[in-house]
Amino acid sequence: MSYELIQVEIQGAVGLIRLHRPDAMNALSVALINEVGVALQALEQDEAIGAIVLSGGEKVFAAGADLKEMQSKAFTELYLTDFPQLPGSGWERLERRRKPVIAAVSGYALGGGCEMAMACDFILASNTARFGQPEISVGTLPGAGGTQRLARAVGKAKAMEMCLTGRMMDAEEAERVGLVSRIVPVAELEAEAIKTAARIAAMSRPIAMMVKESVDQAFESGLSAGLMFERRAFASSFSFEDRTEGMAAFAEKRRPEFKHR
Ligand code: HXC
Repeated sequence: MSYELIQVEIQGAVGLIRLHRPDAMNALSVALINEVGVALQALEQDEAIGAIVLSGGEKVFAAGADLKEMQSKAFTELYLTDFPQLPGSGWERLERRRKPVIAAVSGYALGGGCEMAMACDFILASNTARFGQPEISVGTLPGAGGTQRLARAVGKAKAMEMCLTGRMMDAEEAERVGLVSRIVPVAELEAEAIKTAARIAAMSRPIAMMVKESVDQAFESGLSAGLMFERRAFASSFSFEDRTEGMAAFAEKRRPEFKHR
């Protein structure tokens, strides 16, 4: 499959998807979102891939949904297509993904761009990253999880302020309030994200999936249900060959050789 609005690279067990629409600040047109969806699906189905990085390159992550394309849309079309949850689209795939996905954010991550980054498992930011939900300035509101994921990530006060005023958060503030896991110098961001993804990909794949599902439960359920989910997942990890190998390798003072089984 050849792509026009994204670039896809494979580096060892890591799949990199780079948004590439430089003339429009990587604005998320339907075509771009669909390309991300196709690429994610291909990487998820590729047994050689253990983790995925979603990047926008050095200058900008994404300045939001394509406002010029959206301008002429009407309620009926948005409702009937469940926009932006288009069938097979990037949003759908991001939200239902099983392999870990890291967002590498440099420059603006605004509106749908911020939402796309937050739909990933965690965000590594460069010192130039700026996050915002400025939809209110163009007469609408976040439509792909901005009010929900931002509030869960940074709490009510910051989320309310950002969504109500459109104020942007810089990388330092985003790290301080827990929106991003780490800040990396801009020139090193993509390489660091790939290195981090490679570290995850070297772990047992089914265990990494269970870790991800378990952490996600913390945001989907109450504490006792989440603890129960974790306990059951922990017990079921004992059915994997990789669990036997991991503990044997520790006892034998060697590196484990996971077979992803
Ligand atoms: C379409 C966009 C765009 C967008 C930038 N461009 N953002 N095109 N949709 N969201 C285009 C500009 O029109 C311009 O094209 C080129 O990219 C460069 O942008 P400038 O504005 O000239 O750059 P700058 O002055 O540096 O300002 C950067 C910016 C600003 C602060 C990011 O572009 C901006 O405010 N963009 C809109 C941000 C926004 O409101 N996002 C939320 C969208 S709503 P030309 O052809 O003129 O050179 C949304 C809803 C999500 O995301 C719903 C679910 C998906």
